[in-house]
Amino acid sequence: MCGIVGYTGSNKAAEILISGLKRMEYRGYDSAGVALEDYAEDGAVKLDVIRRVGKVQGLESELAAREDLTATCGIGHTRWATHGRPTVKNAHPHTSCDGKIAVVHNGIVENFAELREELEGRGHVFKSDTDTEVFAHLIEEAYEGNEVAGKPATHDLMAAVRDACSYVVGAYGLAAVCADEPGTIAVARKDNPIIIGRGEHGSYVASDVIALIDATRDVVVLEDGQFAKLTPDAIEYTDAEGNVIEPEVTHVDWDVDMAEKAGYPDFMLKEICEQPRVVRDTLVGRMSGAGELDIDELGLTYEELNLVDRVYVIACGTSFHAGLIAKNLIEGWARIPTEVEAASEFRYRNPIITPSTLVVAVSQSGETADTLAAIRDARIKGAKVFGITNVVGSPVARESDGVIYTKANKEIAVASTKSFIGQVVSLTLLSMLLAQVKGKLTTGQVRMLFRELGDTAEQIQHILYTQQVAIHEAALACKDAQSALFVGRGMGAAISYEGALKLKEVSYLHAEAYAAGEMKHGPIALIDQGFPVIAIATKSPVYDKTVSNLKECEARGAMIIAVATEGDEEIKQIADHVIYIPKVRDAFVPITATVPLQLLAREVAILRGCDVDQPRNLAKSVTVE
Ligand code: M6R
Repeated sequence: MCGIVGYTGSNKAAEILISGLKRMEYRGYDSAGVALEDYAEDGAVKLDVIRRVGKVQGLESELAAREDLTATCGIGHTRWATHGRPTVKNAHPHTSCDGKIAVVHNGIVENFAELREELEGRGHVFKSDTDTEVFAHLIEEAYEGNEVAGKPATHDLMAAVRDACSYVVGAYGLAAVCADEPGTIAVARKDNPIIIGRGEHGSYVASDVIALIDATRDVVVLEDGQFAKLTPDAIEYTDAEGNVIEPEVTHVDWDVDMAEKAGYPDFMLKEICEQPRVVRDTLVGRMSGAGELDIDELGLTYEELNLVDRVYVIACGTSFHAGLIAKNLIEGWARIPTEVEAASEFRYRNPIITPSTLVVAVSQSGETADTLAAIRDARIKGAKVFGITNVVGSPVARESDGVIYTKANKEIAVASTKSFIGQVVSLTLLSMLLAQVKGKLTTGQVRMLFRELGDTAEQIQHILYTQQVAIHEAALACKDAQSALFVGRGMGAAISYEGALKLKEVSYLHAEAYAAGEMKHGPIALIDQGFPVIAIATKSPVYDKTVSNLKECEARGAMIIAVATEGDEEIKQIADHVIYIPKVRDAFVPITATVPLQLLAREVAILRGCDVDQPRNLAKSVTVE
């Protein structure tokens, strides 16, 4: 995930920026850069922009070798690619046409295509593929003035940044410097974190408190719509109209480890709690004004999609479970026969593939060896391959015909949580698109589904706020078990597989998942007094059937933990513990119902003394067969 840092004061900025960028390395990134004030031969201030693909270490070595870099003001960035590949030209900072303004940005400019077209029409020349660069040109127009745009010159960086932000739709944490205003950093925030602080030797800004805690523990967390002007001796906070405001100062007493986890005790919990944002970010920019789904990296024409008559979803582990959910959606909405296969099996079978077969490869890391081998095999056999991955420029992205990037950002805990939600949301979009192209869903229906899909962000937040106690009690009830069963029907069955995997990988408690209707064909023999059965029993067309299956378990002494729909009192008659989730359409239950199962797995693991972030024997990325 991208990181911003900025400093203006009396010390050497390069060292402070590098140290801040290094502190944010844990978040993941693919390139880094800085913009530093420097002097031109005529004595005027100019900006030096130095950018590198790869580790901050490379940038640090380059800066260390430059004795001329004595700047005391600058901004820096680590980039996790979204718009545009991870290359030097796409790395931040980005600059205006005259190179006098440099910006670093976290977030997404949703209307960047329109803005870029307008700016190019007024003569601006773009040097990168990023959405961020529009900020540099918009600020330049406001600073220098532009007759075509009818803008008088402000010659005021803070005012120019405020003006630029008024044109942008989307999310931003932004810091800008200008060669004509040495020592000033202008900062803006909307839906992306910005932290500001005053230290003994100057003023600091970062997107993550960890980059500031060496300089100060008293910080201002900028709020949406607020701006700040940093100079070596002062910081001025203003609102969108430029009125001066008095922000609240927060004292931070975290150590570095706590700061990396943003105050959460572990990355797994932090990442589970980030899921509302993942839903929102994965959907940003996906619906055009005309109500059409917009997947610009699709790589396949609608004609090609319309020809698809069979889909294989290939993946491993948690990503495979996202595929099980996709099967229900693609078959349910688009009516295309869909199979889900473990990539490790697919590659050694002889699956039936024709030019109208679409293979959807799902991989968080984008580098799982089995998934990659299956992609190559499928393409040799003539299939079109569509990738769903969290890592821009990863092998899965490069070797697929088209791709959707999940916007989970770097996932650090080995057990996938937020990336799964990103995958399910992306696969839901793909299913809707296939249905729309095939004429099985109308534009109006797609619009309605899209809106409801977006609502799941709030619904996850609601679960996170309200179900902690219920989940903790359920975890206490099963922490000492030897084994557990997860059951459900339809979507509930697909979710059960992910619930069981999460529990076993982080708590080492043996767990299996079954379609609830299968219980009486064998697994019910396991049930005796107190045996934990975790059921997805939300209100759905198969609710009554699921309840009947649970009654059979209850009659044999099972301890039942039910994930049920809010308002369902009847379930309490058979369940020992109930975790409630808001009512959502069955298609979207996986996005909400998985969250309590992730939390349950984590709670059980903690109660059993396990390291939830780094379970034994597991690796985050499985690049060997
Ligand atoms: O990076 P990928 O999504 O391709 O990884 C696939 C599996 O290795 C991964 O999902 C694994 O099962 C995780 N430990 C799940 O939490």
